Amino acid sequence: MAVYNRFNLGNNLKYALLFALILQSIAVIVGGRAVWESGIRLPSEKEVGTQWAILVAGSSGYGNYRHQADACHAYQLLRKGGLKEENIVVFMYDDIASHPLNPRPGVIINHPQGQDVYAGVPKDYTGENVTTANLYAVILGDKSKVKGGSGKVVDSKPNDRIFIYYSDHGGPGVLGMPNLPYLYAMDFIEVLKKKHASGGYKEMVIYVEACESGSVFEGIMPKDINVYVTTASNAQESSFGTYCPGMDPPPPPEYITCLGDLYSVAWMEDSETHNLKRETIEQQYQSVKSRTSNFNNYALGSHVMKYGDTNFTSEKLYLYQGFDPATVNFPPHNGRLQTQMEVVNQRDAELYFMWQMYKKSEDEQEKKSNILKQITETVKHRNHLDGSVALIGTILYGPEKGSSVLNSVRAPGLPLVDDWACLKSMVRVFESHCGSLTQYGMKHMRAFANICNAAISRTAKEEACVAACDGYDAGEWHASITGYSA
Ligand SMILES: *[C@@H]1O[C@H](CO)[C@@H](O)[C@H](O)[C@H]1NC(C)=O
Ligand SMILES: *[C@@H]1O[C@H](CO)[C@@H](O)[C@H](O)[C@H]1NC(C)=O
Repeated sequence: MAVYNRFNLGNNLKYALLFALILQSIAVIVGGRAVWESGIRLPSEKEVGTQWAILVAGSSGYGNYRHQADACHAYQLLRKGGLKEENIVVFMYDDIASHPLNPRPGVIINHPQGQDVYAGVPKDYTGENVTTANLYAVILGDKSKVKGGSGKVVDSKPNDRIFIYYSDHGGPGVLGMPNLPYLYAMDFIEVLKKKHASGGYKEMVIYVEACESGSVFEGIMPKDINVYVTTASNAQESSFGTYCPGMDPPPPPEYITCLGDLYSVAWMEDSETHNLKRETIEQQYQSVKSRTSNFNNYALGSHVMKYGDTNFTSEKLYLYQGFDPATVNFPPHNGRLQTQMEVVNQRDAELYFMWQMYKKSEDEQEKKSNILKQITETVKHRNHLDGSVALIGTILYGPEKGSSVLNSVRAPGLPLVDDWACLKSMVRVFESHCGSLTQYGMKHMRAFANICNAAISRTAKEEACVAACDGYDAGEWHASITGYSA
């Protein structure tokens, strides 16, 4: 009896082994061979699906050098990680590399000692073709809606992963674009929902650098569409440019513009110094958060935020950013790079750039007075925008309450505005009487949102704008030397 039992047990074991073997073969046939690394089972190529990326630099002009430098750098990083050119769509104005002020013609750098990041970057959507409408069509994989450009779209399948990175100016509820209109938060999120509904991806990771970038997702980013987002700043603070002239660390002396942005270089330099088959999404969030806060010095840094579905942040980063074999022997995730960085906030970077140019042109009187004129015009235009918005507040709410109503910030978790269509129409009304908001004026989006939240009638809004900007000639303001024509 005992012998029989043992024999039987042995047989069962054999069958179990055979069964396991068959299962494994099926897994290999279905999913391709799984890869093991340091005891961690990495998904096979088939399980991973195709890796897609969309890179957006939303500004133009030499004073905004850094945004396009960020996007180009990201392209190089993803390519080194093995993503294919056909799967990466790049939006950039492309006026930097050959800009007359660029000291290294044909070259863009994103770090003081950095290599060229421009060579090889595909010109998918450049110049007039860098538009919000094209971005949406690209995300949705809808070739028929694309206007101009290379026509490359994210033609992704249910098992694919998508990485989106956006670097630019922004404001409450909006991200900039070199061509109008701006990207409005709710429209962007509707596009993501549509992409999800069409089964267009397995998971998506989005990184956004812009002022008030948290406000693009706060209170409206769904948690159930497999999209995870981090932003450079919370809903009510600036984000920061770095590697700026006269700051530490400085760019090479011939540069009069900032080379990068704090959050952007934080994630890219983190990715470049870690083995992304080991580092998780969450680990990168932690180190980027620490570095972007300038190590808890929030006067010179911002709060990195996360939104959306945070359930898959234990996934390894290579699933989105690829894996560069050169990093295989890099030390495991080591928390943070210890360097403090001097910074300038995004909105002052333009003036800072003009001032650098002014200082550089010491002996050329004509050039100097031209730049001075531009600085004066820029400051005057800013004062005009600030003053008009303040006046509108006074007209609508009285001198005592005006400013506090316009500047009030809703509790965390609440969206910037309840009626996004109202916000858009408020901006239209303002711009038709007071001129273009420009990249600086995006900071006033909260004031417009608050006016919408208070349900002011359209007539009252219109009257306030007319009164505040009575006699203002919108044509007076022309694009500054930074080439930003909004
Ligand atoms: C926009 O796209 C069209 C069509 O591809 C192209 O002919 C045009 O040159 C593009 N414009 C810029 C500025 O790249
Ligand atoms: C994320 O995980 C939590 C806790 O396990 C769960 O309640 C929630 O439904 C998950 N969310 C999604 C979008 O899967």
